[in-house]
Amino acid sequence: MSIEKLGEWLQSSKNTVIVTGAGMSTESGIPDFRSVSGWWNHIDPRTVATTEALTENYALFHEFYKLRIEALDKAAPHEGHSILADWEQRGIVSLVATQNVDGFHQLAGSQNVEELHGSIRSIRCHRCQQAAFIDDFKRKASCPQCGGTLRPNVVLFGESLPQKSWHIVMEAIKRAELVLVIGTSLEVYPVNQLPMMTKGKTVYINLDTSQYTVPFDLVIEGKIKEVLQQIPI
Ligand code: APR
Repeated sequence: MSIEKLGEWLQSSKNTVIVTGAGMSTESGIPDFRSVSGWWNHIDPRTVATTEALTENYALFHEFYKLRIEALDKAAPHEGHSILADWEQRGIVSLVATQNVDGFHQLAGSQNVEELHGSIRSIRCHRCQQAAFIDDFKRKASCPQCGGTLRPNVVLFGESLPQKSWHIVMEAIKRAELVLVIGTSLEVYPVNQLPMMTKGKTVYINLDTSQYTVPFDLVIEGKIKEVLQQIPI
């Protein structure tokens, strides 16, 4: 019933925006953060995903991100990512706003993607901001320009989101007739505010639907790949 209703809404919406989180990539073998098997159940995010971690304990910071970067070499987008890319091709979806840093939406063919939490696929110097090679980061080299510390272009806790991306997403959400929120616990500000910023219909697709507080118009509990495959459009 809900799946059919979502299909109708997607067909009739002239402007649909997708917001995704780490749940989008677990079926590609990439752990999320707050599920039982998620990263933050094995490691304290303050020890690896903050600027303090970067400056005070670079060894652990570097190990955490090197591991995640190398895991991408053995993983790939799944059918769910491809379906979202196909919907964009067919004019059904106008934008994917993702919290994910794995680049899987783009690899699956989505063109209009805003990475609100950055990307682990590119590196910069934390001091002079100069772009650096991922292989230099992997081998723990210093910045070739200034000798500073190399880091992935992810948004660490306490850092601000990329302003241009955030503005594009906010404007898209305000104009959207339909917002699909997929595979996120909605625990992290400010992305968790997006569903409340639209006048359009809101839909939540997630494995665990017990935590959210947003009054969604439609909630579909299930595994993302399966749910997206079943939507009749
Ligand atoms: N199908 C559907 N839902 C799933 C699946 C799946 N296959 N796998 C996981 N989920 C759901 C989980 O139930 C959980 O509610 O996806 C959600 C993932 O939530 P989090 O692990 O909190 O990830 P996310 O919401 O993206 O975290 C936001 O927190 O740590 C920071 O920067 C990090 O971008 C991340 C941000």
